[in-house]
Amino acid sequence: MTEQAPELHERRILGTELLWAFGVGVFIAATLSAVVFTALSRDINPPSNVERLDPKTLHLSGEFAEHNLGTTVGADGSVTVRAIATQFMFVPHCIAVPRERPVTLRFASPDVIHGLLITGTNVNTMVVPGFVAQVHTEFTRAGDLLMPCHEFCGLGHSEMWATVQVMAEDAFKPGPDGRISCAQR
Ligand code: CUA
Repeated sequence: MTEQAPELHERRILGTELLWAFGVGVFIAATLSAVVFTALSRDINPPSNVERLDPKTLHLSGEFAEHNLGTTVGADGSVTVRAIATQFMFVPHCIAVPRERPVTLRFASPDVIHGLLITGTNVNTMVVPGFVAQVHTEFTRAGDLLMPCHEFCGLGHSEMWATVQVMAEDAFKPGPDGRISCAQR
């Protein structure tokens, strides 16, 4: 340090600190605005559903029993998809959904932590054993989308994926029981 009057030295330190505080403040404000902006304008939110279930028995009865998996259209027209993420597959392997209609996706895991995303959409969630992972979304384009597991879950992780078949409204015809599976091609 060169010789300076002590007050001048102190003032320089204060100036540098304030400059850094300002820079960090701008960075934090920009980050928070990006979070709020994407949440409001693009509907990108962290999954916040807390619903517990017993991973040891979920396949035996109740909502995630095998016969209840897949896509169901309720009497009010609401579309709900239920699927299990397990080492190393999704059940069912193909999920049928309508285009341009609100869809509720519900996932559960009987074994380890899995994760999933649906390419080109805002669907991206972890599937933690003991909890129901729920995502609300709307698919905008008809066609097949890839749904890979994106959380390392064991040796077969890279083989774990499913297809989401987005159907145009006239092709999305559930059966009398309100259920619909992927069209065979
Ligand atoms: Cu399941 Cu990776």
